Amino acid sequence: MTSFLRPLAYRYRWIYDSVTAVSSLSVGGVNRLRALGLDAVQQQLPTGARVLDLCCGSGEAAAPWLAAGFRVTGLDVSPHALDLAAERHPAMERVEGLAENPPLADASFSAIQLSVALHEFPRPEREQVLRSCLRLLEPGGWLVLVDLHPAGPTLRIPQQLFCALFETDTATAMLEDDLVAQLNSIGFEAVQQELLAGRALQRITARRP
Ligand SMILES: C[S@@+](CC[C@H](N)C(=O)[O-])C[C@H]1O[C@@H](n2cnc3c(N)ncnc32)[C@H](O)[C@@H]1O
Repeated sequence: MTSFLRPLAYRYRWIYDSVTAVSSLSVGGVNRLRALGLDAVQQQLPTGARVLDLCCGSGEAAAPWLAAGFRVTGLDVSPHALDLAAERHPAMERVEGLAENPPLADASFSAIQLSVALHEFPRPEREQVLRSCLRLLEPGGWLVLVDLHPAGPTLRIPQQLFCALFETDTATAMLEDDLVAQLNSIGFEAVQQELLAGRALQRITARRP
């Protein structure tokens, strides 16, 4: 089930950007939200390494990686989002495709970022996306994902409201699931989870053996 607000937010970027600005207040603002992926794994990566921003949207979460000197490829299914990315972040290489089966070579990235996107996939497709990440990472490469987590008492009602207005059943399903266990079962190692924003957000890092 999806609300009428969700397609509007994707069609009119000012709605998407405004919702992101408000919902990122709990982590310290939109710039902080966008930098969560980079901050988690930057120290593990050589300068200028190849990074994939999977489900990059208009490239906002790729921007800190580009600014830090990484070679960033952004993949998204939406040509509209990729057009915006081309305007906003011309240095990012863009690929149109499905995150479940990305048209990219095995072991071609040192890091992959999944920024607030995994909750959009039904369970079977989520598994395919995470398996694709394992395939695309070089040995020793890092996955960093930032996404929803069941909020603690303070943010529980705002999170429920947000999900009801802007998300689909796939987000609710992901909130019921243990992503750390899923990543371990797929074959990632060194899986670490950090809870942020009153537990409403999780940042997970995981390495390809
Ligand atoms: C909530 S947005 C997040 C965008 C960006 N990562 C960010 O942090 O702002 C989710 C993105 O996932 C993309 N997406 C959804 N399903 C996809 C799929 N099957 N394959 C690739 N991209 C997909 C959407 O087009 C959208 O741009």
